[in-house]
Amino acid sequence: MVTDIMPLRRIDHLRFFVGNARQSAYFYRNAFGFDVVGYGGLETGLRNEAGYVLRQGDITFVLASPLREDHPGNARLAKHGDGVQDIAIEVDDVAGSYESALSRGAIGITPPSKLEDEFGIYKTASILAYGDTTHTFMNRDEYDGVFAPGYLPLDPERYGSRRFHPAYLTSIDHLVGNVEEGQMDKWVGFYERVMGFSQLAHFDDKDISTEYSALMSKVVQSGSGRIKFPINEPAEGLKRSQIEEYLEFYGGPGVQHIALATNDIIKTVTTLRDNDVSFLRVPQTYYDLLPQRIGYIEEDINCLAELGILVDRDEEGYLLQIFTKPVEDRPTVFFEIIQRHGSQSFGKGNFKALFEAIEREQYLRGTL
Ligand code: FE2
Repeated sequence: MVTDIMPLRRIDHLRFFVGNARQSAYFYRNAFGFDVVGYGGLETGLRNEAGYVLRQGDITFVLASPLREDHPGNARLAKHGDGVQDIAIEVDDVAGSYESALSRGAIGITPPSKLEDEFGIYKTASILAYGDTTHTFMNRDEYDGVFAPGYLPLDPERYGSRRFHPAYLTSIDHLVGNVEEGQMDKWVGFYERVMGFSQLAHFDDKDISTEYSALMSKVVQSGSGRIKFPINEPAEGLKRSQIEEYLEFYGGPGVQHIALATNDIIKTVTTLRDNDVSFLRVPQTYYDLLPQRIGYIEEDINCLAELGILVDRDEEGYLLQIFTKPVEDRPTVFFEIIQRHGSQSFGKGNFKALFEAIEREQYLRGTL
């Protein structure tokens, strides 16, 4: 039996550092169907930032903003705009995970600490990942509060109480990082060596080059298989690749997209579209060719075509997926919605149609 050198339970939450957490919370609540369950700020004892805890299914996002000029995160906002600052992973043993990661070459950001309030003890420690993205190891087995010390359940009197409408999202399926040209293998190595991940799949420029731009991608997964991180780097193409565009506008490596799982993609995408979430579209010809490429699927193809949902099949089954446009003005972070019917892959058969759709958007932005 292979021992897992870094037992990881699950992705506990993603911390987004944003310019205006209150307005971002409104967006993720009303566009993506998250419930806002917790708040931290001046009223709860946080002195230099405000944060909102959003939840849908097993997915937790924390949106935080600086309240003052001397907040150390201000420089990152100027550099990146809004983005994922931290991928927090729940572990059995926070201090042990941190020490073992450092012993295998990780760079420590925050040494192990115990945060305490009347709800118990919250343990946390952080290491550096690609760019200035971090991984926090955390554990709240001895903590009963809504999220962590400094956060309290949202007060509906102050922050709104209108019923929200969920979008039936259940969990984080995978989280994709973009790194600079030539750096992909270094980061694959980091996840293998430091975090005990193994390589699941790789795609090279033959798989995913279009007429214009190309990228390379390798997928690593945790020992338990529960956490999957594809890592992209730009490959040489005729024009600037979508990864280079991201690196330019994010100001370096970072999280490119977050894939959120649903058990009913038609219901989810219908809801998101009603909420005005913008998705990439592929041409109608994609759907004309779909039956011969995919064979039988449970869903109605006309319905998929109307919503713009993509399908791919491999030996294990099929998957349905769709991608939003970037969710801010910088062409950086976007979301994928995915439903798996057996397939554990990433939609390789859709790469070409998808990247051509992205390139049409890049063309409009003058960044192709
Ligand atoms: Fe993806």
